[in-house]
Amino acid sequence: MTAVNDVIDLSREGEIAVITVNSPPVNALSARVREGLTEAFRKAAADGETKAIVLICDGKTFIAGADITEFGKPPVGIGLRDLEDVIECTPKPVIAALHGTALGGGLEVALCAHYRVAVPSTKCGLPEVNIGLLPGAGGTQRLPRIVGVEMALDMITSGRHVPANQCAAMGLIDELAPEGRLREAALAFARKAVAETRPLRKVRDSNAKVEAARGHPEIFANFRKANARRFRGFKAPEACIQCIEAAVNLPFDEGMKRERELFVELQKGSQSKAQQYAFFAEREVWKIPDVPVDTPTVPVNRVGIVGAGTMGGGIAMNFANAGIPVTIVEAKPEALERGLSVIRRNYVNTARKGRMTGGDVEKRMELLKGSLTLDDLANCDLIIEAVFENMDIKKDVFRKLDAIVKPGAILATNTSYLDTNEIARATQRPEFVIGLHFFSPANVMRLLEVVRADKTANPVIATAMQLAKRIGKIAVLVGVGYGFAGNRMLAQRQREANRLVLEGAMPWDVDRVLTEFGFPMGPFQMSDLAGLDLGWSKETSKSSTIREVLCEMDRRGQKTGAGFYDYDENRTPKPSPITAKIIEDFRARSGAAVRQISDEEILERCIYPMINEGAKILEEGKAIRASDIDVVWLNGYGWPRYRGGPMWYGDFIGLDKVLARMREWQSQMGDEFKASALLERLAAEHRTFGDVK
Ligand code: 3HC
Ligand code: NAI
Repeated sequence: MTAVNDVIDLSREGEIAVITVNSPPVNALSARVREGLTEAFRKAAADGETKAIVLICDGKTFIAGADITEFGKPPVGIGLRDLEDVIECTPKPVIAALHGTALGGGLEVALCAHYRVAVPSTKCGLPEVNIGLLPGAGGTQRLPRIVGVEMALDMITSGRHVPANQCAAMGLIDELAPEGRLREAALAFARKAVAETRPLRKVRDSNAKVEAARGHPEIFANFRKANARRFRGFKAPEACIQCIEAAVNLPFDEGMKRERELFVELQKGSQSKAQQYAFFAEREVWKIPDVPVDTPTVPVNRVGIVGAGTMGGGIAMNFANAGIPVTIVEAKPEALERGLSVIRRNYVNTARKGRMTGGDVEKRMELLKGSLTLDDLANCDLIIEAVFENMDIKKDVFRKLDAIVKPGAILATNTSYLDTNEIARATQRPEFVIGLHFFSPANVMRLLEVVRADKTANPVIATAMQLAKRIGKIAVLVGVGYGFAGNRMLAQRQREANRLVLEGAMPWDVDRVLTEFGFPMGPFQMSDLAGLDLGWSKETSKSSTIREVLCEMDRRGQKTGAGFYDYDENRTPKPSPITAKIIEDFRARSGAAVRQISDEEILERCIYPMINEGAKILEEGKAIRASDIDVVWLNGYGWPRYRGGPMWYGDFIGLDKVLARMREWQSQMGDEFKASALLERLAAEHRTFGDVK
């Protein structure tokens, strides 16, 4: 074996040259990899003894894409497309040997090989769209030539990872190798190609599938229409579609040119920067400076849950889905029965949609055991409390659990707002108490706020983070404080949304501005969905807020067919003249001056106070880094990914601008708008949240 450079090796087995990439962690196409591969291919092509070439990777995966860390920096060394030309034009058969994930630029390189062999566990995909880009090294031109236009549209705009057997069925992979025997299989394939003098098959030359779609613009029109909701606000999916249109309507080289232009446009835009930031932010959250990766963890083989309501049921499903047995304790038999039947109904619905089998439903239900006594939790390694949001009830549950469960078991609370320290103090094991704040619906939402109380031990934190990964969540470590990170910031937005309505905006104006910004729904639609009567009681209601008035009129949100909005049978919200009248009367009664409010003010008033609150959270050390707060908002509250997150967005628009507005509002409306010291400091120093390390 000869090292071409530190990341590429070239060797020969008989008449077959083997080029090996070894660039951990994911063999991304960095300048060194591109350079080494180019040289290795040139050498192998020139070597008289070599009759065919195998391209293979060491480590856990084939090339997983371009090196995203290079984006936005001046280009170095040979370009990816030049490397691809070298591979595709090699005058000897080139066989790409795939394992792990052949993604993005990795798959594009493989598409320039003449043949592809893969082990069954391989997944192939062009996930660039997820980082605000399009496959910019020929993927949009070559993939449709193999898999056809419809499949290419689906794969490229979803970025999904397609399993090897499906790739083989579509012709994207020529041969499946036995698991663990990729190298031998690729070598055998190469020898066969030589022996049979197989042609140097170039994907670029195979036009039948793109020609079949020529003259059928409806394919694209229908695809756009069917996916309009999913693509709303994102620039990359449309650019991907245009590239595939170019593959259909233009000769290959011109299609490549179009792909390049659109790629460069996306790369320059703010959306791809935001989405790449989100990609890395979601990988940073796992890194906790004082809880290193080698921190010991507590094995979690059995989980207990207290409360089978909205949250308890959803939380239980996460563990059952991961094959972890769960015991759920309820206070009353009816509540337990209801909780378990809701879980079953959820699974059955999933099965009805074809996303699991009837057998899977039963398997999961078998992992869930109901109980009416906390004593049944004695053997659990982790118990998550999800009873009513009431400190006395929670403390009582923790006190009892502490006496029942084995030493070393972790006690977690799902509280949304209550003080985790106070709950921990109800036990003799505060170091084993932690907050695990799931989001509703808990079986669907990816976010988990892991709440570190004053005494929570590091192994308990490490266990929680590891467990989150196991059940497919993105965990963010936060400190104790009213509403932690997410709800604390949400409260700012909610307060301003309500105040804007009193000042002259209508709920649907506020919702429209925020949905145009990119949220899936606005604050008033969200309130209607959650139910306006959360925390409301008829007895104590005094018509003191618009919300109270709505509840008093039995307009309690979607569930009663009316709230801020009127709803039809499909739950489509319509601005309500009744609500409008309630608001007008309310404003008249309160004597508030009503004025015209611009969309710009609505947006700034809803968003800037959130950014300011995020700054306070950072300054108080309740979040490790600004990007962690962004991960909370991206995964828990539908913040549009193409806007990075509230803190990224603050940096993007300029912290001096945010600060100026906060000061202006403080002078008009009071100290709720007082700027955080961190925001003041960063703005003065012309720095960003991203600079705070
Ligand atoms: N460039 C640079 N670094 C990358 C990377 C890439 N393409 N892909 C992953 N990494 C880094 C991660 O940041 C992480 O670093 P860290 O350990 O310091 O945090 C490390 O590799 C491991 O990544 P994961 O934690 O994500 O590991 P997993 O095993 O969970 O997942 C993966 C592996 C499926 C490959 C996943 O990392 C992934 O999806 N990567 C991105 C793939 C992608 O988007 N490729 C397209 C790139 S754009 C492109 O190719 C443009 C071209 O068309 C021109
Ligand atoms: P819920 O009212 O739907 O469920 C609570 C369940 O706990 C009820 O079924 C009740 O019978 C049971 N319960 C009460 N006392 C009990 C006891 N001593 N022993 C056993 N079971 C008992 O409430 P929900 O919405 O599930 O909330 C639970 C917790 O989760 C609260 O702390 C809440 O703040 C938090 N939370 C709620 C979210 C939401 O969107 N609903 C989101 C995130 C957290």
